[in-house]
Amino acid sequence: MKAIQVTEYLKGPEDLKVTTVPTPTPKPHEYLVAIHAAATNFFDLLQIRGKYQNQPPFPWISGSEFSGVVVQAPSSLPDGRIPKYKVGDKVFGGSQGAYATHIVSKEEGLKPVPKGWSFVDAAGIYVTGPTSYAGLVVRAGIKAGDWVLVHAAAGGVGLAAVQIAKAFGATVVATAGTQHKLDVARSFGADHAVNYRDADWAAQVKKLTPKGRGVDIVYDPVGMVAESMKCTAWNGRILVVGFAAGTIEKVAMNRVLLKNVSVVGLHWGAYTINEPEMMDVVWEGLYKLFDSGKYRGIGYTDKEYVGLDSVGPALKALGARDTWGKVVVTVPQDAQSKI
Ligand SMILES: NC(=O)c1ccc[n+]([C@@H]2O[C@H](COP(=O)([O-])OP(=O)(O)OC[C@H]3O[C@@H](n4cnc5c(N)ncnc54)[C@H](OP(=O)(O)O)[C@@H]3O)[C@@H](O)[C@H]2O)c1
Repeated sequence: MKAIQVTEYLKGPEDLKVTTVPTPTPKPHEYLVAIHAAATNFFDLLQIRGKYQNQPPFPWISGSEFSGVVVQAPSSLPDGRIPKYKVGDKVFGGSQGAYATHIVSKEEGLKPVPKGWSFVDAAGIYVTGPTSYAGLVVRAGIKAGDWVLVHAAAGGVGLAAVQIAKAFGATVVATAGTQHKLDVARSFGADHAVNYRDADWAAQVKKLTPKGRGVDIVYDPVGMVAESMKCTAWNGRILVVGFAAGTIEKVAMNRVLLKNVSVVGLHWGAYTINEPEMMDVVWEGLYKLFDSGKYRGIGYTDKEYVGLDSVGPALKALGARDTWGKVVVTVPQDAQSKI
């Protein structure tokens, strides 16, 4: 098969190369999936440079989110369970090695492509959808009528959060760093949009809320907790999702007390170990939103990235903060025949 295999740490995405490697053989309880689209993540950039928390032993295939078609399915699963997917089923998932024409996966790492969704859009759900759903619904207890501030609202988890918050009947204030990204956030349902590069952005957000009381929930994948407290309502919940700005904040605890706020963390990846039963609840909730049309794909559409050769340019654009939503690379069918 064709794949982007990493044999030593690289300077950057421009050094990624597509080569021919053996197609992986699934173990008896595993699936083989022909990849039709692979989504990029910022951590791919860290991983190829050797700077990520999870560094597989060399050689390894880059990429971790994909969608495609089952080409080999197990005949049985441990504990006598019947396999959920059969050959020809469209699936998406997450596991190491997505920048390739084929990938092996356990059933737990796969989900069915929502009805009517493209491979491009499906490739970008696996991380963003459940992160934002678990964050807003399970951790922050979102309810109709809440005012929700979504930071970096045009990013991957941000656009998921905007749609989920709207679906639960909230009023959404989106922040982003450019007018184009603010327009994108609005096109996915945000009611208000504020550029957080403005020095007075927190005052602008506060002014939008009823009687200037502030927002009930702050969804923060950037690292803006301290500033956000200036526009958080009494009893507000601040959801710590990530640190896209690159700095881990240290927040003065007296402000948490004075504002009567809860600061809650969310670590979606760790639910597999700590609370696996909640994962089904989250995915069930998400599929309801997909099926009702309240949540649509967030694939980046300003530019198309076609073929594994374009993974490097796609990652470069992502790293330059030039993109919105999920930057997805399509893996054309003719690449599949070159196994
Ligand atoms: N807690 C969890 O379980 C979990 C799960 C998934 C992801 N995350 C984390 O959530 C964060 C966002 O993930 P994502 O997939 O949405 O990423 P993304 O699509 O790359 O979006 C990140 C956004 O952050 C904003 N940003 C602000 N400062 C930035 C900076 N210095 N450099 C780059 N971007 C900056 C950018 O928007 P503007 O240009 O508009 O500022 C960008 O759109 C990441 O830190 C990720 O690790 C956490």
